[in-house]
Amino acid sequence: MCYSPGVNRRRFLKTLGGGAAAVALSRALRAEVEAIAKDPLRPSYHLLPPHNWMNDPNGPIFWKGQYHLFYQLNPGDSVWGDMHWGHAVSPDMIHWRHQPIALAPTPGGPDSEGCFSGSAVVYHGTPAFIYTGVQNAPLDQVTLHDGNDKLRETQMLAMAEDDALLHWKKLEQPVIPAPPPGMKVTGFRDPCPWRDGPWWYCGIGSGERGVGGCVLLYRSRGLRTWEYLHKLAEGKPNGKQTANPCDSGEMWECPDFFTVDKRTCLFYSTEGKVIWSTGDYDRSGMRFAPRRDGVLDHGAYYAPKSFEAADSRRILWGWIRETRPDAELKAAGWAGCMSLPRVLTIGAQGQLEMNPAKEVESLRGAREEVVVSRAAPFRRKLSELAIELQVPGDISNAATTTVRLLVDGRPAWELAIDTSAKEVRCGDVTFPLPGMPWAHPTLRLFLDGSVIESFVGGREALTSRVYTLTPGATELEVVTTGGKEIRVEMWGMKAISADRMTAAFSF
Ligand code: FRU
Repeated sequence: MCYSPGVNRRRFLKTLGGGAAAVALSRALRAEVEAIAKDPLRPSYHLLPPHNWMNDPNGPIFWKGQYHLFYQLNPGDSVWGDMHWGHAVSPDMIHWRHQPIALAPTPGGPDSEGCFSGSAVVYHGTPAFIYTGVQNAPLDQVTLHDGNDKLRETQMLAMAEDDALLHWKKLEQPVIPAPPPGMKVTGFRDPCPWRDGPWWYCGIGSGERGVGGCVLLYRSRGLRTWEYLHKLAEGKPNGKQTANPCDSGEMWECPDFFTVDKRTCLFYSTEGKVIWSTGDYDRSGMRFAPRRDGVLDHGAYYAPKSFEAADSRRILWGWIRETRPDAELKAAGWAGCMSLPRVLTIGAQGQLEMNPAKEVESLRGAREEVVVSRAAPFRRKLSELAIELQVPGDISNAATTTVRLLVDGRPAWELAIDTSAKEVRCGDVTFPLPGMPWAHPTLRLFLDGSVIESFVGGREALTSRVYTLTPGATELEVVTTGGKEIRVEMWGMKAISADRMTAAFSF
């Protein structure tokens, strides 16, 4: 994290301020937003704020017929800092309207330096947020040391004041003010609450140096006072030591604990990756025993959060992060976007599966099918950087099928499914090919500006960022080495707004 709250806060207040300075600034802002809307690298069918920086999804909830999604937002800059909760609303998880900021730091309060990640629950008929507030504090109260910042983290509660979820009333004091006494934590944040009978439970991302990351488990009758129980789950020491404990696995961020198809799942983010685990939860002992685990997405994807959709599907949102330097983010004026909604299920062999929600198909334009064989590879110039591509999973044995993006004839990105080596390769990432047959027998790719979300057999996912693509100069190529023809389906994808989600800036 690189955090300069003072500077960002001042810039944000200036943006809101009146008088001549504000007029000049808003003209500059308008020019910035117009330029952003034309940026071909900015996604056109993924959710992102009108401009500036976003990271983790926060508090997703279906409420009164609408999907609400909140997210970590820096309203004053396109790099990380000064965390607020941005808000967007949608009837279908695809088409979004920006809403005013839902949570902002309260000067002098426990979240004066930022409203970090958290969750939404419905408490006696009223939506509530439980989130992490950060503030400056004497060293003995600091829980976040990451090499840059020293902040005290506490868990905060806010209640919705209206059904549009526009206004939130915060409790002034934290509901969980400190980590368990005597424990020297590597962090204390990102609460994930759930209800079980008369009790509310809450996991909090944490860890200890030399011991490993963990989720601390708390229990409450009414969300306002919580008792610490024990660790819900914990990692193992791996010998790594880094200034930021998130880089060594000694701090688990953004835990998410839920049930899918009667299987208990725990997700958490550490070492730049999201780990999924499925296992058994003992409801009386209140401990989770992981049985299987893996990497949820092999690319630029972090801090996901799930919720239950109107029809009970378990939907996962994740932060698609940038992979270019801050100076380029500042020049672009925007950073980060939300992944497409992903449906979580448990497969016949007990494995976790993840597929784009069917609602994504509403974005498809005209369908095109091409037949690709060893003798006839497919190559086509792309006029728009917004397509879906589906390659069938019955790719013949002993064949490598490669999907490639070329810019001015040179490869800019490629993903190869190698059935002889039984692996998937994409740049410097290689992972085992899920065993066939696949329940979802396709490789599905979603290209949107500089974002590529790839789903392999509904079992493995990889999110890539490519900043060299240009409409008109980018070509799509599909090549196969096997003896069998493959039929590739393609759709141009419709944008979710005419202006790449920038126009609603003034709400
Ligand atoms: C994960 C994270 C969370 C924290 C938030 C701050 O990306 O570091 O642990 O709450 O981002 O923006």
